[in-house]
Amino acid sequence: MINEKIEKALNAQLNKEFFSSYLYLSMSSYFESKNLTGMSAWMKIQANEEHLHAMKFYAYIIQKGGRAILGAIEAPANNWKSALDAFEETYTHEKFITASIDGLVNLSLEVKDHATNNFLQWFVTEQVEEEANVTKIIDDLKMIGENSYGIFMLDRELGTRQPAPPTPAAA
Ligand code: FEO
Repeated sequence: MINEKIEKALNAQLNKEFFSSYLYLSMSSYFESKNLTGMSAWMKIQANEEHLHAMKFYAYIIQKGGRAILGAIEAPANNWKSALDAFEETYTHEKFITASIDGLVNLSLEVKDHATNNFLQWFVTEQVEEEANVTKIIDDLKMIGENSYGIFMLDRELGTRQPAPPTPAAA
């Protein structure tokens, strides 16, 4: 049996993870249009990972005897001023997701739902990694500035990103 408040909050997070996937796929398309194929590939992997995050919530809600509800997904932006602008929006969005996960953890403690608290810990760790990865890219972009060779090299580097190996909870 799943606590009603927890079920609702997990479903809200499910929607946010799908939105994240949509947002990063939109950024992937933007980078493709700018011929930044490495950044486009990086964002496509990110979009796929967000889809997996959403599916973790989907599977967990059902496993706990709840109902996964698929709501409307907001349309993401489709244009950015620069690569730096897009990655800064990514960082802002990830901070929002971190706060949302923290809110869920607080709720799980409030209702003494230890299973959900344990489930959420994977996301707590994941958010630390996601924020750190994006911060590094932003720092690199700031250092590079308008230098086109620097952008070219960073694009190459980001294009080498490999998808994360599947985790048991995502299966
Ligand atoms: Fe699913 Fe980027 O957090």
